[in-house]
Amino acid sequence: MSRLQPTRAFDIPSSVVTSVSPHAPQSHEAPWWRHAVLYQVYPRSFADSDGDGVGDLPGLTARLPYLADLGVDALWISPFYVSPMIDAGYDVADYRDVDPLFGTLADVDVLIEAAHGHGLRVLIDLVPNHTSGEHTWFRAALASGPGSPERERYLFREGRGEQGNEPPNNWKSVFGGSAWTRVTEADGTLGQWYLHLFDSLQPDLNWRNPQVVDEFHDVLRFWLDRGVDGFRVDVAHALLKDEAMPDWQEKAVMAASHSEGAEHANLGPMWDQDGVHEIYRAWRSILDSYNPQGDPALDRILCAEAWLPSQQRTMRYVRPDEMHQAFNFHFLETSWRAKDVRTVIDDSLEAADAVGAPTTWVLSNHDVVRHASRLGLRVGASRPNGIGARSVQPNAVLGLRRARAATALMLALPGSAYLYNGEELGLPEHTALPDRVRQDPAFFRTKGKEIGRDGCRVPLPWEAGAPSYGFGPSPDGATWLPQPLVYGSLAADRQEGVTGSTLEIYRSMLRLRRVHDLGVGGLRWIDGYGAQVLAFVNARKDGIPITVLTNLGDAAVALPESAEVLVCSGRLEDGLLPQDTTVWLAQRDRM
Ligand code: GLC
Repeated sequence: MSRLQPTRAFDIPSSVVTSVSPHAPQSHEAPWWRHAVLYQVYPRSFADSDGDGVGDLPGLTARLPYLADLGVDALWISPFYVSPMIDAGYDVADYRDVDPLFGTLADVDVLIEAAHGHGLRVLIDLVPNHTSGEHTWFRAALASGPGSPERERYLFREGRGEQGNEPPNNWKSVFGGSAWTRVTEADGTLGQWYLHLFDSLQPDLNWRNPQVVDEFHDVLRFWLDRGVDGFRVDVAHALLKDEAMPDWQEKAVMAASHSEGAEHANLGPMWDQDGVHEIYRAWRSILDSYNPQGDPALDRILCAEAWLPSQQRTMRYVRPDEMHQAFNFHFLETSWRAKDVRTVIDDSLEAADAVGAPTTWVLSNHDVVRHASRLGLRVGASRPNGIGARSVQPNAVLGLRRARAATALMLALPGSAYLYNGEELGLPEHTALPDRVRQDPAFFRTKGKEIGRDGCRVPLPWEAGAPSYGFGPSPDGATWLPQPLVYGSLAADRQEGVTGSTLEIYRSMLRLRRVHDLGVGGLRWIDGYGAQVLAFVNARKDGIPITVLTNLGDAAVALPESAEVLVCSGRLEDGLLPQDTTVWLAQRDRM
């Protein structure tokens, strides 16, 4: 990371009062994961090398120079394991092999080596809560009778009612419908039920069974030995369930507390049980054993996907001997209101500082409506699970404008940030996919009541003039989900080198973030710009402080005198910062 010479601290304009600092700067030597920008690759949709219309690992490897140029530090790759793809690979049939759809183990080795050659670390996705229904363990569990050790690896229970016709409890699946499915036993009779918090072909494992614990220790080592730098841990808060499995009236929801209507989300007996932390302590010691000298550059990391109602509960996953990071879904779910955004930033920093963990930030991923569309919906509307042709449509222009402003705010914050592939192109959600192409199990299990997540998973556009917008060489330009027309005008080649394009703004921000070490900077709010403006200084101990202003109000805002604009999410109007725009400023004349 480049270093600037120490400079004098930057004075805030006299009209402006600084308020207390919610977050102190970190050392320059902070381990990489405390400040890294990680880029989520959804492998089905990133780049296709073999023309089957589905992205794959060689396609990703070929595009690594693009990611290195973009300026991210690491990749998180969504699952590429052997899978029947009931839930797009989050249903794993073999944790130690690659699905032919994506390539081979040798392709992973090539990818890891090439990524490292570009200075990019690689996190893979670990799915420990459930296997696929096609995993050998589950097949064995079905074939072996009730009470067998094979069944003990999953959560099989007898049904309620005289004939056992009722599920063991009333839990609902996150994807809709019951969380229980009844099996037909070898003799043809209806038998036990098994738990699946997600699809019926994603049976939940029994994490109280030592075989399950040992198996995942081995899976961790398998991939660590191949050179991965860490794991994103799928539904990390779900592994243990309350042993009594009491009834629970609510649907099992994957949402953080800020989404309206989800106040009770995740308080159920299937989430966030105290015992899960012991699992992650053991994992942490395995990861640490790969860095015996404790060299911060060699740290391998764990990042928790845990949708929890409070920052404090989330931070329990990143106590010093547990995981390194947890996704900040509270930030993702915050309404585009200045007060709410400021509050979530303060709460995030405070909660993370309290356990000594880095904060993370994220606005989009493969499970949520892309933020370029989400922010184009009515402010305060609850976060929809997908947008379909018959849904209220987002305002695309407003959404992109806010998305750029929100990202510019996010990338100026201290901590680590996650980007989702395609957001650097300003891609919107595909809001008009025909139902016949949908694949998300949530769409089917809710009988279309929930549109589901396909709209954020559409293959990326690389070249405006090529079939499938350069996604891959499929004969008729077909892609596993059709691309909307607007993706042509947003293709990477249309934006490369174009001043003010979303891609170039991302590149500038990522470069400046590194130059100024914003990831390890301290954050201090500046008051005096009014209630609709978020204004803060990010300063590292001996660097140029960077002032960041995000204007959420309709009155344009004057910039501090003699400030140099480093990057702006949109255009200044007559030198003023208009609504839904973020600017990063330095005051070099004061050096
Ligand atoms: C996580 C994944 C999501 C998946 C679910 C079940 O939330 O991000 O895509 O459907 O877990 O594995």
